[in-house]
Amino acid sequence: MSADEQHRFGGRHTDEKLNKLGQYMATYTTALKDQGFVLAYIDAFAGSGGRVETRPTLPLFAEPGAEPETVTVAGSARLAFETKPPFEVMVLVEKDAGRFAALERLRESYPDQQVKLAQGDANEVVQKLCRGLPWHGSATMPKGMRGLLFLDPYGMEVNWQTIEAVAGTQAIDLWCFFPLMGLYRQAAREQVRIDATKRAMLNSVLGTTDWEQDWYQPIPRPSDMFGLMEDEATRVRTADVNAIEAYVQRRLQSVFKGAVLPPSRIYNGRGAPLASLFFAMANPAPKAVAVGTRIARHILNSGSSSQRRPR
Ligand SMILES: C[S@@+](CC[C@H](N)C(=O)[O-])C[C@H]1O[C@@H](n2cnc3c(N)ncnc32)[C@H](O)[C@@H]1O
Repeated sequence: MSADEQHRFGGRHTDEKLNKLGQYMATYTTALKDQGFVLAYIDAFAGSGGRVETRPTLPLFAEPGAEPETVTVAGSARLAFETKPPFEVMVLVEKDAGRFAALERLRESYPDQQVKLAQGDANEVVQKLCRGLPWHGSATMPKGMRGLLFLDPYGMEVNWQTIEAVAGTQAIDLWCFFPLMGLYRQAAREQVRIDATKRAMLNSVLGTTDWEQDWYQPIPRPSDMFGLMEDEATRVRTADVNAIEAYVQRRLQSVFKGAVLPPSRIYNGRGAPLASLFFAMANPAPKAVAVGTRIARHILNSGSSSQRRPR
């Protein structure tokens, strides 16, 4: 594999996220396998299929000048290929040319699998799939399709129209790595310091402008202690990370008619809140919601160190 195709990203939290996704994949295809639906997996930020990890070496045993040992572990796309029972259709989307080439080679190892690779922007491709596939049946597909979608961006790449399109299918279960750190970093402490680029990015990810009203409150200036005049310069963000995460959950609940579970909070290696792993169901059928949420809740609540809040 060329250096371009090697994908180094994440850390221990990545293993945990992928572990949860892998558990859901297997229970999902098992639960739905005899129900007549065509089961699809869509990976909108598929990467290369693998993740290169550097293993710690003991200085005592390492040759002087030796390169650290690296291993490639399965990424989301490879986990999907390995799922048993298999997905009937898979769509893998990746923008980067090198990683896309790695996905093409990965596909060759699974000749029996029906896989569509798309090199392009995740938002465009996912919206097209959501609006164009016969989720609720067609002449050749009487029962229609059910889908599992993984949104795993580096940061703030997913726009709200994509989330709405997914929810609108009423047929997709979504696992979404929501960029909590991106949100609280773009939302400066003083409202006046949010520049046009940051505001546009937050509007795009959240699909609304009302977060400003929700997250910021006027704080009186010392000279204004009695007048309490509301002034743009005195508005500060009173929404902390918990409040921002709860806001995102409410936004998702406003469009997903099945369910949105409380997320699993993911922390980075330094103990800072990094992302919220959300599970949402577009399908409103009570029986499907009962089964899907029971499984996903168990997976989300299974403990791990990077989910615990640092002391
Ligand atoms: C966090 S990585 C995904 C890792 C992958 N899910 C895995 O487990 O191996 C994010 C990936 O999204 C790709 N990417 C970034 N922006 C994109 C976009 N707008 N559309 C599609 N892919 C994009 C990056 O090249 C990168 O490979």
